[in-house]
Amino acid sequence: MKIVNIVGARPNFMKIAPIMEAYRSVPELTPILVHTGQHYDERMSDLFFRQLGIPRPDINLGVGSGSHATQTAEIMKAFERVVLEEEPDALLVVGDVNSTIACGLVAVKLGVPLIHVEAGLRSGDRSMPEEINRILTDAITDLFFCTEQGAIDNLVREGHDPSRIHFVGNVMIDTLLKNLDRARQSTILDDLSLDERGYAVLTLHRPSNVDNHATLTGLLDSVEEIQRDLPVVFPIHPRTRARLAENGLGARMEAMPGLRVIDPVGYLDFLRILAGARVVLTDSGGIQEETTILKVPCLTLRENTERPITVQAGSNQIVGTCPERILQAYRSLPADSGSTCGTPPLWDGSAATRIVRIIADTYCPGSAEAEPAAASKPS
Ligand code: UD1
Ligand code: UDP
Repeated sequence: MKIVNIVGARPNFMKIAPIMEAYRSVPELTPILVHTGQHYDERMSDLFFRQLGIPRPDINLGVGSGSHATQTAEIMKAFERVVLEEEPDALLVVGDVNSTIACGLVAVKLGVPLIHVEAGLRSGDRSMPEEINRILTDAITDLFFCTEQGAIDNLVREGHDPSRIHFVGNVMIDTLLKNLDRARQSTILDDLSLDERGYAVLTLHRPSNVDNHATLTGLLDSVEEIQRDLPVVFPIHPRTRARLAENGLGARMEAMPGLRVIDPVGYLDFLRILAGARVVLTDSGGIQEETTILKVPCLTLRENTERPITVQAGSNQIVGTCPERILQAYRSLPADSGSTCGTPPLWDGSAATRIVRIIADTYCPGSAEAEPAAASKPS
């Protein structure tokens, strides 16, 4: 069975890495890796392939940046040629980025079944481009792999066939658990003169936060306060760097002595930074999950989350973007706030193994290698 796998943007790389590795133990499945080129800077793409041992993509569409319509359309045009040429038996997509929906749509229109890893997550906020991508991708998905029970409930509520929905755990956490020891060898804390538990981490890239001048200014107000109390390290996403420059906010940040603005860092350094932090402030999806496993308190700078299990586990608080609320949450953090966090079910490092076995069971029944997978069916 020939299965094409899509990556495009930074969070896709951590998700595909364990899946590409797991294919090696299922010879019935022949994977092909396609990079759309949605992210292309060395520090947003190639660095992750090297650090995570992801095979070089068989095909790179080289699409790059653009408006939503342009980027989605360019990926679709380029990827249609790939599907026609390769004639895959299935397409596997991860997450919720434009590459996910663009390639999924091309495949199903050509009669290729679609497999979605991290299916069913819903923020309930349709102003988020990712929420549109999630809803549309799941509407055309044939086989769903879910990270948490809430995602299964969403899919069942939307009318999807429960026999196609599988609770497998979290591939992003497979990558975290596999690389944590390597990450602990990173020298990044020394390089940045940061002490264990003696700093905060900030990441921002959601358009609702960084493309809106008033919101971005309010977020900087809260960062200004926090950096007076605790050093804040801010690996800056290219979208955010561009917006800060356009808005003339760079000088304001430079005047904050406790704020360390750095380029995006590779996965191992970032994992080290996260693991040693006293608190993480972020609007990222994946970082809400990683902090849950690392038991580091996370203040999510959004009004909602598509990952409610991270809140239930006790590590994550949804604090919005109002400076007063962010500062109140920051000041109320108990000294040992991470230590009592729970671990979400099946976030155990084996999600990718379950996924490839279920794919083989579903599309290559009777295969000798396709042992029954220890994943749960929705109740
Ligand atoms: C995308 C995803 C978002 C994900 C994020 C992860 C969509 C709709 N958005 O957002 O869900 O959370 O990636 O990081 O798919 N740029 C560079 N170099 C790069 C990549 C981007 O300079 O390698 C700049 C370009 O100016 C570009 C902007 O960043 O226009 C935004 O990139 P884009 O991929 O469109 O969206 P992200 O904000 O990165
Ligand atoms: N990450 C990284 N370097 C950075 C910032 C983030 O390696 O400088 C990793 C982070 O650990 C997580 C992923 O990138 O694995 C999250 O990507 P991002 O926040 O861009 O996207 P989202 O998860 O919000 O879609």
